[in-house]
Amino acid sequence: MTAVEALRRHQTELAESFHLRAAFAADPDRAERFAAQEGDLLLDYSKNLITDETMKLLLAHARDAGVEALRDRMFAGDAINLTENRPVLHVALRNPGPFRVDGHDVSQDVAAVLGRFLAFADGVRSGEIASSDGRPFTDVVNIGIGGSDLGPRMAVRALSPYREGGPKVHFVANVDGADIADTLAGLDPARTLFLIASKTFTTQETMTNAATARRFIVEALGEASVGAHFAAISTALPKVAEFGIAETRTFGFWDWVGGRYSVWSAIGLSLAIAVGGRNFRAFLAGGATADTHFRERPMRSNIPFITGLLGHWYRTFWGYTSHAVLPYDQRLVEFTAHLQQVDMESNGKSVTRAGTPVSGPTGAVVFGEPGTNGQHAFYQLLHQGTDPIPADFLIAAEPHEALGDHHAKLIANALAQTQALMRGRTLEEAKRQLLDKGLSEADAVRLAPHRVFPGNRPSNTLAYHTLDPHTLGMLLAFYEHKVFVEGALWGINSFDQWGVELGKELANELLPAVMGGTVPKSADSSTRQLLAHLVTKE
Ligand code: F6P
Repeated sequence: MTAVEALRRHQTELAESFHLRAAFAADPDRAERFAAQEGDLLLDYSKNLITDETMKLLLAHARDAGVEALRDRMFAGDAINLTENRPVLHVALRNPGPFRVDGHDVSQDVAAVLGRFLAFADGVRSGEIASSDGRPFTDVVNIGIGGSDLGPRMAVRALSPYREGGPKVHFVANVDGADIADTLAGLDPARTLFLIASKTFTTQETMTNAATARRFIVEALGEASVGAHFAAISTALPKVAEFGIAETRTFGFWDWVGGRYSVWSAIGLSLAIAVGGRNFRAFLAGGATADTHFRERPMRSNIPFITGLLGHWYRTFWGYTSHAVLPYDQRLVEFTAHLQQVDMESNGKSVTRAGTPVSGPTGAVVFGEPGTNGQHAFYQLLHQGTDPIPADFLIAAEPHEALGDHHAKLIANALAQTQALMRGRTLEEAKRQLLDKGLSEADAVRLAPHRVFPGNRPSNTLAYHTLDPHTLGMLLAFYEHKVFVEGALWGINSFDQWGVELGKELANELLPAVMGGTVPKSADSSTRQLLAHLVTKE
């Protein structure tokens, strides 16, 4: 029997007989046995639909699927992104190396650009790099989208306690003019620096917003001020030069850094300006800690292997379609949005690495909001909906603010949620509770079914000391590697994103019609109707 067949049979058995409440009652060591740690970061995965046998089978499956070998090829700089014939080496951005691409050690190049962009960031923070009138910048606007936006946006918010007097950092992504208009409305052009962040330097949204930002500066300060008010991050250096940004203010990266993994590169410049070079290096060091863990720990105690195998277990063997990421950490409010790109752009695939259709489901829908807010919005469905949704809870032991009992309440809520999902409440317990409240037998019988919680709903808890730069780096890199493990198990290429191309092509085809030109012959009747409704004729 293959590991997959054994897992299918095992899942059928568990579906019939396993309940987390009983598993905890029967085994006082369960939590200790299903836990893994790196530094002060603890992964408690005991509240999952697993037994020792499950983990044994999952680990055997990972071995059969060659996940470790693919991991080693990634670190070795092999072109594992086979549809674009590129290595996948974002790990080279946060580790000393050597890392070879076509025989060349890229570590020196990485260190050189890192040194340059951190010096620029610290220069902006100190006022040494100033606006055209010589005053320090008060505001920095990062213009980028997808990987050139979500990672830095998430991290700037997460690490806001580390700003220490640096300028305010804003993010503009959407081609909807409302985004840039609302951002610019509060800004003084004379004190604003724009960072144009785009791997390709062709992305429609970013180029459109960059042109609007340029006009904002030129109209207020004149053409001569453009040089002082712009910097760029890209792999397409000639295109940056065409836009008119000087080489000294251009920070490159490489095609072996995927957009969704680029926060570790110069794309993180906005983060470096927000928190300074020292904190940025601590963020990189956190990522490097997770890399060493992923590379060296045996699979059994390896956090990305465990979480990736569990993701695969639920999606492939239980058929669960979604995965909730629930930070009980308000400053991780953008974390799930960033993970959506890391996970869904990576593993939303339907063909294998060989180009044949996959035999089962792949990437789950990732969603979530910080707790406790989500508790008052969508948790109802997590507890009593018809579809079990595995969830990750993220929580710090120490907050940055010592504000009365806020943090005690936050921790209590996070743990209570994982407990409620795990234990549930039986019909008998629900009825007893109502009777204890003084309801009649008839009313208790009528109302109890509404108060039943099935329980047995899986969750992981990631508990860390405090949300500092090192911890954030570690958390993010663990998730990146989790996505890697899942993709490797599904046998897909997690590193391309052809699925976003068709929409871009069609938008370019339709734009002339929206701007008053003729409607393409290929347009269907629905598109014609909508164009007629939306495009105002003068
Ligand atoms: O949406 C597709 C995508 O290519 C992402 O992968 C990428 O992060 C984003 O667009 C932005 O691309 P760029 O950095 O080249 O502007």
